[in-house]
Amino acid sequence: MTPTTSEAPEEEAGGPGRGHGVLMCPPEYFDVTYSINVWMDTGVKVDFDRAWRQWERLVSTLEDAGTRVRTMPAAPGLPDMVFTANAGIVDGDTITPARMSRPERAPEIEHVRDRFEELGWTVDEPPTAPQEGAGDAVAFDGGLVAGYGPRSAEPAYAGLRAHRGWTVTALELTDPRYYHVDLGFCPLDDRAAMVLPEAFTAAGHAALAEIVEDPVVLTPEEGAAFCANAVVAGRTVVMPHCTPRLGRELERRGFEPVVCEVSEFGKAGGGCRCLTLALDVELDRAGAPFTAEVVG
Ligand code: ARG
Repeated sequence: MTPTTSEAPEEEAGGPGRGHGVLMCPPEYFDVTYSINVWMDTGVKVDFDRAWRQWERLVSTLEDAGTRVRTMPAAPGLPDMVFTANAGIVDGDTITPARMSRPERAPEIEHVRDRFEELGWTVDEPPTAPQEGAGDAVAFDGGLVAGYGPRSAEPAYAGLRAHRGWTVTALELTDPRYYHVDLGFCPLDDRAAMVLPEAFTAAGHAALAEIVEDPVVLTPEEGAAFCANAVVAGRTVVMPHCTPRLGRELERRGFEPVVCEVSEFGKAGGGCRCLTLALDVELDRAGAPFTAEVVG
């Protein structure tokens, strides 16, 4: 099967700036061939046709919600490349590629570099410590809400603060089921966000409560069904699962939940958001980025 998503011609697609939407990678080589999180069981078979259909439906759902979907070619032997959220951290026309903590995923990064260079973006150096991209560093209110512990390492964030001047609220992740921050936290706008308390330490959850004015607290069941792993496109919340209660909480805030089943990707521990990398991200520079300027 081939993807039906239509990619704009390269000249049109290229160039930094706003209006980029999301980057996705077709599930051509998607599979569960190793296990690097508690959801992955190599004994479980992936239904490849179903994975394609689910991925294509996610593309069309996002497009219907007004999001432009761009793609990055898949590469053989890299079954998790479909989870583009882990490719890097986007800020304006720059991507800071991830430093994958797991050797199985490390070779994805050269493809990320190639794709962004081809699109005319600035490709920064990856952090000096493991940091798994936007999957572990979600943009919220001009800063980043970041996770560390299972995958990303805390020192990566000190480096990013110093090097890029970003405001990073780094939170320790405690539950192996929620090994990336995007499984426990999802911004809806600058004030509201879905929050799964048990993904974080008590101190981490308290820090989150300080910065999220209007939390939509998920139940343990909603968390385990990856409700937090949603893509917010305008007022549409594209999510792998929703409950009536959560639907009402979202609607009360003016959002429309749209469930997009991605169960095949759940076998690799991912949901809707993991399958996308937001390209429309502008982060504040709270501190001056550390740059060695040559004067004279
Ligand atoms: N199998 C992938 C991994 O363990 C899933 C990545 C999910 N991505 C995410 N942003 N949470 O790395």
